[in-house]
Amino acid sequence: MSTVTVVDHPLVQHKLTLMRDKTRSTRGFRELLSEIALLLAYDATRDLDLTTVEIETPLESMEAPILKGRKPVLMSILRAGNGLLDGMLTLIPSARVAHIGLYRDPETLQPVEYYFKVPDHMEERVVLVVDPMLATGHSAIAAVKRLKELGPRSIRFICLLAAPEGIAAFQAAHPDVPIFTAAIDRQLNDHGYICPGLGDAGDRMYGTR
Ligand code: URA
Repeated sequence: MSTVTVVDHPLVQHKLTLMRDKTRSTRGFRELLSEIALLLAYDATRDLDLTTVEIETPLESMEAPILKGRKPVLMSILRAGNGLLDGMLTLIPSARVAHIGLYRDPETLQPVEYYFKVPDHMEERVVLVVDPMLATGHSAIAAVKRLKELGPRSIRFICLLAAPEGIAAFQAAHPDVPIFTAAIDRQLNDHGYICPGLGDAGDRMYGTR
């Protein structure tokens, strides 16, 4: 079974509380999401492979560590996933960015892909799939399934909040993909919202309704 890492750093927990507050402005919500995204990405990338390169410091030459292989990819699940990109790109400025768009077919209730754009050489890259809310898990499961068709070097899933139901469904579908989240909330309600949660992440970050 894949691991679930709750990033319990005090700064992450503090910022998450500010985001949950329904009186938080759109601007404040977006800024906090970006700040937390950086901290989540820091934790989710701590096992990236390193190699060494010979460099000259002002004093002498040395074999120094450097990231190995092609640039990592951040894959945003549209639209709310985009809210995590800024902060993560601050931490990993040379990362490549992929997007996947899915909607739910009203009759079959299955996710249908409407957009998919990724960089080349995916089979050599580490991919961080990002979506703020792991609720039912349907979108995340479908996005990772599609991504696996490209055979990336490794995949990890990063969200802000996860519901126990979403974690169970995701782990059943993708036992090889670790999950990183800032918190695991109590449950989903009848409308598929995470409780206590923070509402609709996309609406709150873009000021829509
Ligand atoms: N998506 C959201 O934006 N919020 C939830 O609570 C669940 C899914």
